[in-house]
Amino acid sequence: MLAAEALNLLSSFAADYPDAVQEGQVIDERLYRQQDRQLERVQAVLQALPERPGRTSLERSLNGLKRDFAALRPADLVQRRANAAADRLAALYQLQRAPIHPLPAATDGEPLYRRHCARCHGLRGAGGDGGPSLASAERSVQFSLFDYYNLLDPSADTLHGARLGADLNSWQRWALAVAVARFPVADQLPPSVDLAQRYPALVALPGLAVTRPATLPEDAATALLWWRGYPEAVRTLEHPLVRAGGLLQLAETAYRAGDTSGAYHKAVLAYRQGFLPLRAQLEKRDPALAARILDQWQALREALTGEVNSAVVLAASQRLRESLVLARNRLEPPPEQPAVIVWSAILFTLAAVTGLLWWRRLRRRPPSQ
Ligand code: HEC
Repeated sequence: MLAAEALNLLSSFAADYPDAVQEGQVIDERLYRQQDRQLERVQAVLQALPERPGRTSLERSLNGLKRDFAALRPADLVQRRANAAADRLAALYQLQRAPIHPLPAATDGEPLYRRHCARCHGLRGAGGDGGPSLASAERSVQFSLFDYYNLLDPSADTLHGARLGADLNSWQRWALAVAVARFPVADQLPPSVDLAQRYPALVALPGLAVTRPATLPEDAATALLWWRGYPEAVRTLEHPLVRAGGLLQLAETAYRAGDTSGAYHKAVLAYRQGFLPLRAQLEKRDPALAARILDQWQALREALTGEVNSAVVLAASQRLRESLVLARNRLEPPPEQPAVIVWSAILFTLAAVTGLLWWRRLRRRPPSQ
């Protein structure tokens, strides 16, 4: 598929740029020329794709990227531009960037990796004569899981072409993406659990699949690097309401792509796996919000099964997602709150003691003449 190919080219482009250009100088002439051809190919592919509202503005940002590339601008800027263009292209041509099923475990991908990849990339991803190392964290942070998945798209694989010699289905490609993502963190300990609370969207789909660690603050980047190599461990960290929100986002993507029954299925899953486990708790904490969410769920279900305008469906889903965020906040008081309570108790006691002391001093003071 053409859109997948363009996306592929853009994500490798972003990852390769610092190897081609450093401090305003071309340090690898051959790679730089190859990158130039990649950008041209992306522009040609975009021309060949069907016209969409938003395509012209994407063309403009590709032209901007081309200018930055020609001017040998700093890597972080060029990478950000290339990745932003890739994300817009994926949205414009509705590429499904997260799996509908839970992510496979790296152990699911390992046998596939041994069969199809190890001869070039090495058993542990250390690289060899046939292919580069996949075990460098510095390199891996530039790619999302989806980028790895997309690199293996048989119809868009510009890296391997016929060399791969394997026709992989979607589930196998996700399993391989996870196996590749595990190499840099293979013998590392998991990040601390409170990071999952601080960055809930990164332990749920689609965040886990579509985020490039390089775009995050350092603690989040390190954590994501680990989490995506161990999706089976991450599932226990995922907050049900965040899962519900993620599934609704996937439902919207499916709906936009014309897959109404897939969208309906995901919305039902979001309700069952995300909301139901916490419904009673929320009804106790905030009955009005719980009732509103139930209404909104009903409205979404009706919109998905009725003959309504697509804007109505999408708005219903987005309203529901907003309410789910509120619900999560209602169920989990922000972490500073207990500290605030402790401090107010201490301050109150101090004030009371001081008052008492003053009062006693006043009483002891001999009456003035
Ligand atoms: C015949 C050898 C060969 C086989 C088999 C092979 N690769 Fe590769 N792979 C390469 C080469 C060579 C490159 C670098 C291509 C380039 O940069 O133009 C590469 C690049 C990659 C990259 C991008 C790495 C980066 O940092 O840019 C990933 C990811 C990757 N391969 C994964 C896989 C997986 C997964 C498999 C198995 C399904 C596989 N490869 C099979 C030779 C191979």
